[in-house]
Amino acid sequence: MAIITVDGREINVKDDALLIDELLANDVSVPHFCYHPALGKDGNCRMCMVEIEGQKRPQIACDTPVKDGMIIRTQSENIARVKRQMLELELVNHPIDCPICDQAGECSLQNFYMEAGLYDSRVDIAKNKKQKHVDLGANVILDQERCVLCTRCVRFTSNITKTHELGVVVRNDHSFISTFPGIKLSNPYAMNVIDLCPVGALTSKDFRFTQRVWFLKPQEAICDGCSRGCSLLVDHNREKYKDDLIYRYRPKHNDAVNGYFICDYGRLNYKKENDNRLKFAYIRGMESEFEYATLKLERLLKRYNSKALLLISPTLSLEEIYRLKKLSQKLDLDINSFDENFDESFGDDMLRQNDKTPNRRAIELQGIESSKEDLQKKLKDKDFVLLINRADVDMIKDLGYDGSIGVLSSSDFLHKDKLDIIIPVASHTQRDGTFINCDDFIQYSKCQIKRDIESIKILDLVEGILNDGVSTCEAVWDSGLKEENFLKDINFNDVRFNSIKIELK
Ligand code: SF4
Ligand code: SF4
Ligand code: FES
Repeated sequence: MAIITVDGREINVKDDALLIDELLANDVSVPHFCYHPALGKDGNCRMCMVEIEGQKRPQIACDTPVKDGMIIRTQSENIARVKRQMLELELVNHPIDCPICDQAGECSLQNFYMEAGLYDSRVDIAKNKKQKHVDLGANVILDQERCVLCTRCVRFTSNITKTHELGVVVRNDHSFISTFPGIKLSNPYAMNVIDLCPVGALTSKDFRFTQRVWFLKPQEAICDGCSRGCSLLVDHNREKYKDDLIYRYRPKHNDAVNGYFICDYGRLNYKKENDNRLKFAYIRGMESEFEYATLKLERLLKRYNSKALLLISPTLSLEEIYRLKKLSQKLDLDINSFDENFDESFGDDMLRQNDKTPNRRAIELQGIESSKEDLQKKLKDKDFVLLINRADVDMIKDLGYDGSIGVLSSSDFLHKDKLDIIIPVASHTQRDGTFINCDDFIQYSKCQIKRDIESIKILDLVEGILNDGVSTCEAVWDSGLKEENFLKDINFNDVRFNSIKIELK
């Protein structure tokens, strides 16, 4: 531990840490374009200048290790002048696009100009013209004029994905970012360059011009695209007279799981939350009153008892799985969780996992059978199968089952008329819950967006049948979940805020 003085304030810092990291961690404003904690230093933008006592000239904080006793000034007259000069240089050729730029509201250049610039422009010559709309591939659009040549995007493709699609070409103020001739930006993580770009040079083809970012409200969630369970920010908004819709997913920094990045598949997976939603309850193919359908389901489960099977999905939360197991014990129902959602070509050595469900581990740890053989055996003497958070009806038919079928699903599906009962349930971003990832980190997905689509949360549905007042995640933990062996020494309040590794004894 070392002590440094910043603008007259003493702060404790880690030995040998980078000065910029410690300044930012202690809420000291340090404008910067090229430095990024995941990409390291490059020293090309010179925006992060600070004065260090004993040094003749200002130094860049992104390439300065801290030393005990250092005295730093970030707000002196000299530093203010240096920042203004660097901004003036950045902006010589930058177009005045802000009113129509998709980055407005989250643009570092705009923010730093308002914070450290505010000078009158001295540029009285024509600005360099470059290409305004270059389709780089992978949903990424480049505006070469807006680029500040920080090279974050280039370093991402060379150091992180190691796919090397991007480079800086041509010299001096004619330099621009480009893919190599005949090559497109195409790797499973390519859209991260949009978040890395500090200005509006790289924007998302999927998101651009759909919303002004200041209208979006972020909520935190865990990605349900695969068993990695990356941390997400879910940006949503309810426009006047419309339903609340999700406009984009962004990575949420989480050192324990995904660092600063997510994959493009997970990023675009928000579409299933908006589109193709199941909107009505059905009984034998006819639209039904929602409450009548839930009562009918309760009656069916109580009538069939051991002749009924709950076929649960690894997309359910830990709390939902626990409660469905309780329901199966109380009503003497059978339970199985066989699911084929694996893709051998999906996984890689960065984040993506072949298992394209977020909570298979929670099913395993709760001792619920998930083999095909067990399902096949159980189906033989069943008269009613309820598929929960899934609609793979053909799968059980292929296993020879031809009895009654019910489905609880958030997504619409074909051949609904052939089924006995269908009830829409809350989708992933409409309900909170915990998920256990492929490395045994237990994480809480907080997002609970309220939609106009009529649907029921599975915890509420089970509570309606068991009538025991347990319908929130916290209540489920208190009702017995926390006594499970794998959760010993873990409490729900800690899981709310951190990814916690389960230590199996
Ligand atoms: S496109 Fe964006 S990330 Fe890439 S060099 Fe330019 S400003 Fe930096
Ligand atoms: S790696 Fe998996 S969990 Fe992470 S964003 Fe991609 S699909 Fe989602
Ligand atoms: S952030 Fe330090 S030189 Fe760019």
